Amino acid sequence: MSLPTALFKSLSRIKKDLKEDIDAVFNRDPAARNSLEVILTYPGIHALVLHRGAHYLWQNEQKLAARVISYGSRIITGIEIHPAAKIGRRFFIDHGMGIVIGETAEIGNDVTLYHGVTLGGVSWNNGKRHPTLEDGVIVGAGAKVLGPFTVGKGAKIGSNAVVVKAVPAGATMVGSAARMISDHHDEKGNPIVKKSMMPSNKKK
Ligand SMILES: CC(C)(COP(=O)(O)OP(=O)(O)OC[C@H]1O[C@@H](n2cnc3c(N)ncnc32)[C@H](O)[C@@H]1OP(=O)(O)O)[C@@H](O)C(=O)NCCC(=O)NCCS
Repeated sequence: MSLPTALFKSLSRIKKDLKEDIDAVFNRDPAARNSLEVILTYPGIHALVLHRGAHYLWQNEQKLAARVISYGSRIITGIEIHPAAKIGRRFFIDHGMGIVIGETAEIGNDVTLYHGVTLGGVSWNNGKRHPTLEDGVIVGAGAKVLGPFTVGKGAKIGSNAVVVKAVPAGATMVGSAARMISDHHDEKGNPIVKKSMMPSNKKK
């Protein structure tokens, strides 16, 4: 393929993706007024466009450049997406600030995230350690989805939920049940401060 043809194809693809992204905003945010406003003022759109560039570079072994773009995007938008994360079509990030999407996260089509969401890991081991969100999943503001499991198609995660296990398709999940999992104190009742208690580095 000649360079001009390749360039033309890339530009048409970028234009088509951007149109889909903007349509997704109109479908899911009643506050959106017009395309220009969406392009100029929606950090989710900026993060997505920059992620596509970073992901392309990551896949083509330009990893430092990919990380630099991802970091720049984080500075501008407050949204941190690892360049290796796989993201489907019509992904909508509303408000954006404080979102973290980890390296091995996978996101299907038509997924929505609100601000403050973490798609994170609970292990320092290499390999799959972040969640997979299937098509149509919605994750409410401030929710944390932690671990290498799947959130099934169309599931809803309530705001501020902490999800650490697989979620079946279509389920709605709320709540964050913190519970004591270890009680570190000496015989006099004084706390024993461990070097680090998170994340866990348990071998899978
Ligand atoms: C989880 C969610 C999808 C559930 O919506 P829903 O199916 O319409 O559920 P309802 O509002 O009817 O609530 C059902 C029950 O769950 C509870 N509940 C709803 N959301 C909850 C949440 N995030 N955390 C804890 N409990 C919640 C309600 O209090 C209600 O409890 P009750 O039956 O004891 O009265 C929705 O509440 C939510 O959190 N959406 C995310 C929205 C968001 O983040 N918006 C950000 C905009 S900036």
